[in-house]
Amino acid sequence: MPLSIQSLAAIAIDLQTGLTRRDHFTLLVSSLRQLLNCDATALLRFEAQQFRPLAIDGLTQDVLGRRFALDQHPRLEAIARAGHVVRFPEDSHLPDPYDGLIPGHDKLKVHACIGLPLFADQNLIGALTFDSLNPRQFDQFNDEELQLISVLAAAALNNALLVETLEKQSLPDFVQQISIARDGGEIIGSSPVMQQLKQEIGIVAGSDLNVLISGETGVGKELVARAIHLGSARAAHPLVYLNCAALPENVAESELFGHVKGAFTGAIQHRVGKFELADNGTLFLDEIGELSLSLQAKLLRIIQYGDLQRVGDDSMKRVNVRILAATNRELKQAVVSGQFRADLYHRLSVFPVVVPPLRERVSDIPLLAGFFCERYRIKLGLTQLVLRGDALTALEGYPWPGNIRELEHAIYRAAVLARATQNGGVTELLPLHFNLNSQTAPEQQDNEMPPILVQGDLATLTDQFQREVIRKVLTASDMNWAATARKLNLNSGNLHRLAKRLGLK
Ligand SMILES: Nc1ncnc2c1ncn2[C@@H]1O[C@H](COP(=O)(O)OP(=O)(O)OP(=O)(O)O)[C@@H](O)[C@H]1O
Ligand SMILES: [Mg+2]
Repeated sequence: MPLSIQSLAAIAIDLQTGLTRRDHFTLLVSSLRQLLNCDATALLRFEAQQFRPLAIDGLTQDVLGRRFALDQHPRLEAIARAGHVVRFPEDSHLPDPYDGLIPGHDKLKVHACIGLPLFADQNLIGALTFDSLNPRQFDQFNDEELQLISVLAAAALNNALLVETLEKQSLPDFVQQISIARDGGEIIGSSPVMQQLKQEIGIVAGSDLNVLISGETGVGKELVARAIHLGSARAAHPLVYLNCAALPENVAESELFGHVKGAFTGAIQHRVGKFELADNGTLFLDEIGELSLSLQAKLLRIIQYGDLQRVGDDSMKRVNVRILAATNRELKQAVVSGQFRADLYHRLSVFPVVVPPLRERVSDIPLLAGFFCERYRIKLGLTQLVLRGDALTALEGYPWPGNIRELEHAIYRAAVLARATQNGGVTELLPLHFNLNSQTAPEQQDNEMPPILVQGDLATLTDQFQREVIRKVLTASDMNWAATARKLNLNSGNLHRLAKRLGLK
């Protein structure tokens, strides 16, 4: 049954009605799937050498989070290079990116497949893919008809992209997406809280304000900092990273501001500080809450006046640096308790950005899971890595105290386990590969005292006990020293010294 003019016209008309972009695309792929009577359809955006699914029908939800790099997917590469309709023979040796991702046909391989590249002025902007488990499904449609579909879809996609470009001022999210995609630091997530966060990132990136990024451990604060930098007018200049928690007091000042030769014993050469390195760019001060009060005062000065003094140098140097600071502490609380300067806090938090914990964006879990599945599929050299429905349900029901980082590690670990017991083809992640119930929240682990063997003098035993406790809390905190210090109610510098003495570092 060939395609009728009426059915294509109906799709064209649908695309003109006043729906949001997302709805348009969803409508488009589901209409096309019905029209071609196939099992799966996807509309993909092409940019920065990768395909990003914009809308899918008939595929597992996690596909929306997968990013298909051209050099990792020969089938998509063939579509990208073709310039016209591509029909893959049933016995094509090129793996289909959707193998194992059609729900209800978990183990089945996709049979018939066609791909339509989408162009705007000769430029590849996306693709449509159609997959069917029936190998003869697409024989009834001729290339001209399929070409017509691709013209319709390309026009719709291009329109949406043009609108986005026009809205750039109010929706800089799109601009960012490009530079971030190229840098591999895309922020995955389309839940309401993440849409709002992306909106905020867009707004603040365009300003030159200092930003305080706060949120629990592993929520993506560093990713947000990069997004703000890349979306700003400073993007072509460096983003310099400094972890305030790993800064020993005695070298902190020269690390930040630099020093001149002979400034102190051991200063055998001039040294440029992070502020100078970040001149015209951005300085990312991670774990700002760990900065000592004396350094806070020095930092405040440079933020206020923009001039710095290298250690041992009398002259002043002007720098133009934007500061992004991150913390997983209640900094306001630290101000109240006198551990953090109120004036510095106000300087930094002109525009506070709060990154929500994963448990407040459960609807992003499928996307993030898909994103990490594709990442670790490549890393582990697997043909395909899929997350079974019941495993996804388990992931959605877990509270994730370690947030995205914990989810990422869980998927990686599960993939390694699954690979060890399954051979070849599609590697499937099952609930048993995720040990979620036994992973108690770090708070709970803190209270568990490690058993010790009472043998030896008290000093040795005390050391042994301290070593065990630190090791345990450190592991529960994802090897984050600052978080460990906080949980043990220790000053971060003291913890470092203690860990060194105990031979933990
Ligand atoms: N929305 C997201 N999309 C994709 N990857 C993410 C997202 N959020 C976090 N990640 C990944 O999770 C990991 C942890 O993120 P990140 O280091 O930015 O967290 P953080 O908030 O700085 O944590 P901490 O407070 O422990 O330093 C990184 O590998 C990061 O790439
Ligand atoms: Mg971080």
